[in-house]
Amino acid sequence: MSGIIQVKNVSKSYWRDSIETSVLHDISLDIKEGEFTALMGPSGSGKTTLLNLISGIDKPSKGEIIINGADISKLSESALAKWRSTNIGFVFQFYNLIPVLTAFENVELPILLTKLSKAERKQHVETALNIVGLNDRMDHYPKQLSGGQEQRVAIARAIVTDPVILVADEPTGDLDKHSADEILLLMERLNKEFNKTIVMVTHDPHAASKAHVIRHLEKGDLIQETV
Ligand SMILES: Nc1ncnc2c1ncn2[C@@H]1O[C@H](COP(=O)(O)OP(=O)(O)OP(=O)(O)O)[C@@H](O)[C@H]1O
Ligand SMILES: [Mg+2]
Repeated sequence: MSGIIQVKNVSKSYWRDSIETSVLHDISLDIKEGEFTALMGPSGSGKTTLLNLISGIDKPSKGEIIINGADISKLSESALAKWRSTNIGFVFQFYNLIPVLTAFENVELPILLTKLSKAERKQHVETALNIVGLNDRMDHYPKQLSGGQEQRVAIARAIVTDPVILVADEPTGDLDKHSADEILLLMERLNKEFNKTIVMVTHDPHAASKAHVIRHLEKGDLIQETV
């Protein structure tokens, strides 16, 4: 059975002043529904670039990205943005919360422009904050939260639309060990209990050990798969 994420012969180059920088070379991979994948590799090896292609933030120079049977590399920018908003949840290293919004308002952002009523939105936000264990911090602003708590708010924001796929770019990279472990536990729970397909970039072998599959990038090539 083919995977929920299929990367087929994908290459990516960036152009500047007519000079081509080739960042990913003919990458193919297949990620099954419900799989937890860790993406490792040295700085500059192309991990974020690959994550951005899988999540439809960027488009490949060559090849296809098939998600849930649909070739997202063929979508227009606006169709892609719409697709992204319902299918993908994003978690970043530095949380990317809006400082002037409370935890509740940050989590509400992705569903603000949907057809949901205010009461329905409230219910979704509370459910998401409940899952990450932060319903007692709803009215706190990001600066009133610890790094680990900020990342949990960011995860609540990522799951509030109930996406099938979660992508995380070094989600524990800025956290102490204790907070990092809490985040990893949460990722495992989202994978097992809520059946989220997860692609997580990490430098940390301990974080990667939580995944089912570890894939390694080296200078734009996929070099080895550890299962
Ligand atoms: N928009 C861009 N324009 C030009 N080059 C880029 C662009 N984005 C990334 N690159 C180049 O692509 C290569 C891979 O970058 P990428 O951010 O994917 O690496 P990474 O594996 O995520 O590294 P890190 O571990 O440091 O986050 C780098 O050499 C980088 O300079
Ligand atoms: Mg990166």
